[in-house]
Amino acid sequence: TVHERVDTFHDNDQKPVGYGRMLRKEDPRFLRGRGRYVDDVQLPGMLHLAILRSPVAHARIVSIDTSAAEASPGVKAVVTGAMLAQQNLAWMPTLSNDVQAVLATDKVRFQGQEVAFVVAEDRYAARDALELIDVEYDVLDPVIDARRALESDAPLIRDDLDGKTNNHCFDWETGDEAATEAVFARADVVVSQDLVYPRVHPAPMETCGAVADYDAVDGKLRLWSTTQAPHAHRTLYAIVAGLPEHKIQVISPDIGGGFGNKVPIYPGYVCAIVASIVTGKPVKWMEDRSENLISTGFARDYIMRGEIAATRDGRILGIRTNVLADHGAFNGTAAPVKYPAGFFGVFTGSYDIEAAYCKMTAVYTNKAPGGVAYACSFRITEAVYLVERIVDCLADELGMDPAELRLKNFIQPEQFPYTTKTGWVYDSGNYEPTMRLAMEMASYDELRREQAEKRARGELMGIGIAFFTEAVGAGPRKDMDILGLGMADGCELRVHPTGKAVVRLSVQSQGQGHETTFAQIVAEEIGIPPADIEVLHGDTDNTPFGLGTYGSRSTPVSGAAAALVARKVRDKARIIASGMLEVSVADLEWEKGAFHVAGDPGRSVTIQDIALRAHGAGDLPEGIEGGLEAQICYNPSNLTYPHGAYICVVDIDPGTAQVTVRRFIAVDDCGTRINPMIIEGQVHGGLTDGVGMALMEMIAFDEDGNCLGASLMDYLIPTSLEVPDWETGFTVTPSPHHPIGAKGVGESATVGSPPAIVNAVVDALKPFGVRHADMPLTPSRVWDAMRGQARPP
Ligand code: CDP
Repeated sequence: TVHERVDTFHDNDQKPVGYGRMLRKEDPRFLRGRGRYVDDVQLPGMLHLAILRSPVAHARIVSIDTSAAEASPGVKAVVTGAMLAQQNLAWMPTLSNDVQAVLATDKVRFQGQEVAFVVAEDRYAARDALELIDVEYDVLDPVIDARRALESDAPLIRDDLDGKTNNHCFDWETGDEAATEAVFARADVVVSQDLVYPRVHPAPMETCGAVADYDAVDGKLRLWSTTQAPHAHRTLYAIVAGLPEHKIQVISPDIGGGFGNKVPIYPGYVCAIVASIVTGKPVKWMEDRSENLISTGFARDYIMRGEIAATRDGRILGIRTNVLADHGAFNGTAAPVKYPAGFFGVFTGSYDIEAAYCKMTAVYTNKAPGGVAYACSFRITEAVYLVERIVDCLADELGMDPAELRLKNFIQPEQFPYTTKTGWVYDSGNYEPTMRLAMEMASYDELRREQAEKRARGELMGIGIAFFTEAVGAGPRKDMDILGLGMADGCELRVHPTGKAVVRLSVQSQGQGHETTFAQIVAEEIGIPPADIEVLHGDTDNTPFGLGTYGSRSTPVSGAAAALVARKVRDKARIIASGMLEVSVADLEWEKGAFHVAGDPGRSVTIQDIALRAHGAGDLPEGIEGGLEAQICYNPSNLTYPHGAYICVVDIDPGTAQVTVRRFIAVDDCGTRINPMIIEGQVHGGLTDGVGMALMEMIAFDEDGNCLGASLMDYLIPTSLEVPDWETGFTVTPSPHHPIGAKGVGESATVGSPPAIVNAVVDALKPFGVRHADMPLTPSRVWDAMRGQARPP
């Protein structure tokens, strides 16, 4: 069913309605330039920190002379790795149980690695002094290509790890190898394709930074930082620094985009804390754009071989893949512990197949650490790209229409909950109507006719389809933890005497509109208008514990917590109402914002009346305490599995090989929709990201390991000029286990759009016999593909 409430109401409207289009409560401050970001924090006596970074990718540090820098005007301290090592702080754990240098002591292992820092009276004095630090490097051969990393004569990168003799990081497999082998052996058709998902960067508009303020008298550390997970970060700081958690307050104020980039703990945060402790002053560290691009969490960097087996009439039997994963110099991947390859296991996509198998090898290289989930749930982007590209290759081999091939193989609605051949339990889905709606919106048959006519005239037009299932809302704590912290989220709701409320979340918005949508969720449950519900987040002293925002987990986990905590408050309100109306609880009926006596709607009390009574004079029913508030910690029973059908239309200039995305139709199903306007915004942003990844973005390196994408002149991100007017639609298949049936949506578009665009480009290039070309499909790559010279990045 497709249904939507079409209310459009504004901040000051007093409608008790919850879900619907509502202007964002946070926008008045953003639109007036009144957002408060980490770099806006100014504290009395604050000092500034700048980091010296390695100019080379791989080198032994012979010596560091800091004397000239120390003598530079305004400089308060210069700190090297050797100094940190004396305090046992030179290395820190990563989110994947590896270690990462805070400041290099022995070697530098990637260009841009942190080597030393200066603390000075202002940002300029600190930066000037960096140039006076004299480091002597003994340059070593770097390993830049993951394919080179495991060769027996490859230079050893991680000689800091005991007994390490090669650049192997981890192996991982999923699925059933023998069963997959058997279906491949009996298949009529097998298609294989090598695919590279290049290294890309989330490139949030706001770079990373922190202000650390350690008070030696009361022993309390306050840290404003650009983090998507303030509570998790606080616990890790407590463990590493040996400070008790109640003496650490992590404040994540307004965040200018995260996209996964602000999940890891970066050396800069730790340096700022150390600097504040050493100097006794507040210290600010704020990266510049190049520092963000060359040293913080990258994404993807998977070299994949995909294989698909099918019958001649187009029934997909099995999918098999072999992946070489480049994790850079330190394994800084952010993923639940049991899932070193994130949720790549969903590579079987939206299809009902007989067998699947994946084998992955991960390696270290002399590149920045990371492997963050850039706007996706832990490597799902790579998985969806793999399956949606090889399904297209199969359609090409079979001479079948790619939409028809997908429709023929979808998991059917009655098969849900559906357990995939790699063990994921898809909660709900109804794929065909979503696909049909996208085809209808696109006028698919007409597009194919237009394409045939254009082809006959030598024009290059392509139509690309991608159908995806995401797995978002990590996760059930029995299966998922990050460094031992279970992936649950807390929520607290307090209703004040006058019926205004405050809801406190453990997740942290980076622009997704939580201040609006979480107020809407609570409004829908207890009937207080969203305008009267204040949403607080991002301050560990003032919000309950939980694991934060990434992998579109806020709505599936914290959104569920908000609905349930509101129901808990409503249950208490019902008991108080029964006392006020002098009837039994069973005789009360609830209607948005008020309880009335069954059969007598005239006898009613509003939630505001109840709030006043809960705090006011007079007796409450037996055993009921005063106040109207509740707290819960929500542990999801499963992930939620949103899906979507995307159709992209491209034109390619045969003279310049420039790709233009002419149309893009995106039909998303994220279950119950809380705020359709916000969902559309999320989808528009993710689709734009997809154009970037498919056509423009790549963090490339030269053979010496110099990063070639260190500025936004070299690392191209899309603007409104490169994207079409998005055409969005939706279907609604609620999640059966989420209290309001909502699934996450924040990252669906980033996941689904790259394969749709690449499939469209490859479709346009069919007359040249092209079956695949790797991203980013820049004019030169498309040009090469047209000449039969496509090569992997
Ligand atoms: O974790 P993150 O906030 O990045 O992703 P999300 O949970 O998918 O939510 C992104 C935004 O879309 C939030 O403001 C959600 O409340 C909103 N949303 C919605 O209105 N309806 C849904 N079914 C899912 C998300």
